[in-house]
Amino acid sequence: MEIALDRESPTPLYLQIAHGLREQILAGILPAGGKLPPSRRLAERLGVNRSTVVQAYGLLWSEGLLDGHVGSGTVVRAHASAEPLPISPPPWNMLFTTQAEAVEDELRDLLRVFAQEDLISLAAGLPPADLYPMDELRALSDEILARDGRAHMQWCAVEGYAPLRRLLAERLPGLTAAEILITAGSTQGLYLLARSMLSPGDAVVVESPTYLGALKVFQATGARVIGVPVDEGGINIDMLAGVLERVQPKLLYVLPTFQNPTGAIMPLDRRKALLELAYRHRLPIVEDDPYSLLAYEGTVPPPLKALDVHGHVIYLSTFTKILAPGLRIGWIAAPKPVIERLTPAKYLLDLFTNSVAQAVVCELTRRGILDAHLVRMRAEYRRRRDALCAGLRAHCSRLEFSEPAGGYFVWCRLPAGVSAKELLREALREGVSFLSGDIFYPDGRGQDRIRLSFPGQSPEAIEEGMRRLGRALRHLQRRRGQSAQEHEAVIRPIV
Ligand SMILES: Cc1ncc(COP(=O)(O)O)c(C=O)c1O
Repeated sequence: MEIALDRESPTPLYLQIAHGLREQILAGILPAGGKLPPSRRLAERLGVNRSTVVQAYGLLWSEGLLDGHVGSGTVVRAHASAEPLPISPPPWNMLFTTQAEAVEDELRDLLRVFAQEDLISLAAGLPPADLYPMDELRALSDEILARDGRAHMQWCAVEGYAPLRRLLAERLPGLTAAEILITAGSTQGLYLLARSMLSPGDAVVVESPTYLGALKVFQATGARVIGVPVDEGGINIDMLAGVLERVQPKLLYVLPTFQNPTGAIMPLDRRKALLELAYRHRLPIVEDDPYSLLAYEGTVPPPLKALDVHGHVIYLSTFTKILAPGLRIGWIAAPKPVIERLTPAKYLLDLFTNSVAQAVVCELTRRGILDAHLVRMRAEYRRRRDALCAGLRAHCSRLEFSEPAGGYFVWCRLPAGVSAKELLREALREGVSFLSGDIFYPDGRGQDRIRLSFPGQSPEAIEEGMRRLGRALRHLQRRRGQSAQEHEAVIRPIV
């Protein structure tokens, strides 16, 4: 099957493919009942994304030229048949475009690991449900509903609940409420930015490894995601400078404070150097900062947003990690033109963010309840981090890790020859879970890394989890004929 593509043409590739196939169907070159190649194979042959072929097939299906049946693939529809066509369900997989595809296998695997019960989960980056400030949340919700319930049941401003915007603006120097957009979690902020700013083929630079959710959102736009290595001080500036000599990315996405997954924290001088580099290359920075209020020792340098004097930084944060993910309250702090472009995009997405939840979060913060909760959480998470590190040293032979000064995660390097995926399978059998490192890299690296999230489990459960992880490691190594002798786990920066 020959289909000529003109990559210089303004006609989208999927329309060119649909056109080529349509001509061949109408000319009888592709006969009725004939099978079309699976979308993945045709995509490989034509050198296009699979989603492009899926879109072309979907268009031809909507024109009545193709039929699709589960199991039998995509076939040319028989027009001339006197028999009425059998009614079959629409071929759903042909009717969806790129986005659904990006949420493929890895996320499905991930959700399976998250959902598995009866195990000690060190996989999801969630706060512990038993420590949510439920009494305060309940009392404030009652009070807000009694006082302003009817108003909150109406529409809220797209940009967010005004008192909360004002309060959040006070967190960073020089910021005004007009530069704040409240979002349904920072996931929505990332989605809005990616959808509003990125087109297929655009370059986005990310830390390698980086937050999986951001990787997926960027990849779903069809952007080229370029990874720059992270060390214990965050993104490597020299390597980033090297990339910027060759490409002009639309965005740089970074997590300077208690990075997900490595826990790395970028020192002040590197933050300044990063901003200088961004200014030289007119590079917008997206700074994602869910963890900076969770420092267990030392001080945290100011966010890039607070150091930015030329309006290059779009700042994202959330109440998910410091309070509760179920509230779904996050925010974007950005130069006014950015907020003005994102606001109509948010309007199209969900009109506005849940107003009661915004008011609850606002009052919780204003009355100092959140600060008091944070004091307790920092002490508790620190205990959990210490339990994890002690458990790793005691039970996990030859596993290297860096002890994070804050945040949620301990990032580990596995002994030579042990793959994260194999270890995860073994660990699930033992009753402990974590995330395999490769899902955090844009290019499939990280098979020898794992991420352990500590806030969600008690110190006792963490200790037991490390014992199980140690057993899983030893089983694997024994099976591979390697020495399973106990060694002290080595603490040194491994990012
Ligand atoms: C870096 C980072 N950004 C964003 C999120 C998601 O936050 P939210 O619940 O506000 O969407 C997470 C949660 O894992 C995260 O680690």
